[in-house]
Amino acid sequence: MKKSSATVFLASLLVLALVTWRFGFSGTAGEASASPGAHPFPDSALLETARSLFGTLGAALPAAVAAPDAVLGRHLFWDERISSDGKTSCASCHTSEAWSSDARRYSTDARGRLTGRNSQPVFNAMEQPSIRWLGDRQDGAHQAELSIVGSMGFADADALVPVLLDHGYDPLFRAAFPGDPDPISPANYGRALEAYQRTLVTPAPFDAYLEGTLGALSPEQERGLELFVSAGCVACHTGPLLGGQSFTRFGLARPYWEATLSEPVDEGRFAVTGEEGDRYVFRTPMLRNVARTAPYFHDGSAATLGDAVRVMADVQLGRTLEDADVERLVSFLESLTGEVPAHYAPPER
Ligand code: HEC
Ligand code: HEC
Repeated sequence: MKKSSATVFLASLLVLALVTWRFGFSGTAGEASASPGAHPFPDSALLETARSLFGTLGAALPAAVAAPDAVLGRHLFWDERISSDGKTSCASCHTSEAWSSDARRYSTDARGRLTGRNSQPVFNAMEQPSIRWLGDRQDGAHQAELSIVGSMGFADADALVPVLLDHGYDPLFRAAFPGDPDPISPANYGRALEAYQRTLVTPAPFDAYLEGTLGALSPEQERGLELFVSAGCVACHTGPLLGGQSFTRFGLARPYWEATLSEPVDEGRFAVTGEEGDRYVFRTPMLRNVARTAPYFHDGSAATLGDAVRVMADVQLGRTLEDADVERLVSFLESLTGEVPAHYAPPER
C-alpha cells in the first residue's frame, strides 16, 4: 500500500479504458442491441466481464468461528465493560442493525466525544490491504490495538490489562495464545479482535450470480450491473469487495464539497502523508452490504444510497444520471447485501 495515489489513479484509468473497450466491442458484436431497453452485453458476456472484474466471498467455516482467538475476539467486541466509561464496546458504533456500521453520521466514543468520520462496516473489512477511510492502519489488529486509546477511551494501552483481569478474561487469553507466557496484552487484544472480524464475511446474491446461479440477480439488477461497468464505477470499485483496494481523490470532476455541502472540508490522506497529491484522497470504500450502511461518505453527508450514487456519477465521472439509471444502480447494489452472521451478537458469558 505504499503506491502513490497517482499510480493507483492511472491504474484506474487503465481499467476504465479496458472496460469501455470491452463494452464498445460487445456493443458492435451484438447489432440487435440497438433496440430500446436491450442489453448492451449479451448475458453470458456480462457474466464473463463481471467475473473478470469482481470476485466471490465465501462464509467463514464453523471451525474458524470456534477457534479460541476468534471466540476471545467475539467476547471483547461486544463487552462494554472493557472501555474507560464501562459503557462502550466495538459494537456500540458497529451495530448489527446497520450491518456493522453506524446509522448515525458520527458516533460517540468512550470519552463522550464525536468521532471525526462516519463509522465504517467491519463485515468483510479484514480483506482490505489497509484499514479506515485514510488507510492509516495496516490491518485489523493494528486498528483494534490503537482503538484502546482512541474510541475505547483509555489513557494508555497498558491501562487495558487490569480491566481485562478484573472481568475474568485470563482463561480466554490463555486459551487463545497458549504459547505466550504473558498472554494478556494490548497486542493480543488486537490479534483476537482481528481473528473474530475475519470470520464476519457476508456472501450475497451477487456471489451466487458470479458462481453461475441463474436468476440470482433480477433483470433490473443485471441492467444496474451493466451500467456499473459501462459508466466506469468499476474503475475504482472493483475486486471481490467492489472497492477497498485503491486510494482516489474524492472529486475528480469537481470538488466533492460542492455536491455534498460538507463542512468542514476533510483533506483526506493529506492529513497522514502531508503530500500535496494526497489532498482529498480517500480509500475507495468497499460496497459490500452498502444498501444497509447509510449514511454514506466519510462524513455521512449523503443520507440515501440514491444520493450517494448521484454524487459519485457527478464528482467522479462528471455525469448527471437519469432517475431510472440511479434506480438501476441502487438495485444492483442491493444484490451485495448478505445476511448478518449469526455470531455477530454477544456471546454467552
Ligand atoms: C466510538 C465509536 C467506535 C467504536 C467504539 C469503535 N469504532 Fe471502529 N470505527 C469507528 C469509526 C468512526 C471508524 C472510521 C474511522 C476513520 O476511518 O477515520 C471506524 C473504523 C473501523 C474499522 C475500519 C473498517 C475499514 O473498512 O477499514 C474497523 C475494522 C473497526 N472500526 C473496528 C473496530 C473495533 C474492533 C472496535 C473495538 C475495539 C471498534 N472499531 C470500536 C467508530 C468506532
Ligand atoms: C475515481 C474513483 C471512483 C469512481 C469512478 C467511483 N467511485 Fe464511488 N467512491 C470512491 C471514493 C474515493 C469514495 C469515498 C468518498 C468519501 O466518502 O470520501 C466512494 C464512495 C462511494 C459510495 C459510498 C460508500 C460508503 O460506504 O459511504 C458509493 C455508494 C459509491 N462510491 C458508488 C459508486 C458508483 C455507483 C459509481 C459509478 C457511478 C462510483 N462510485 C464511481 C471512488 C470512486
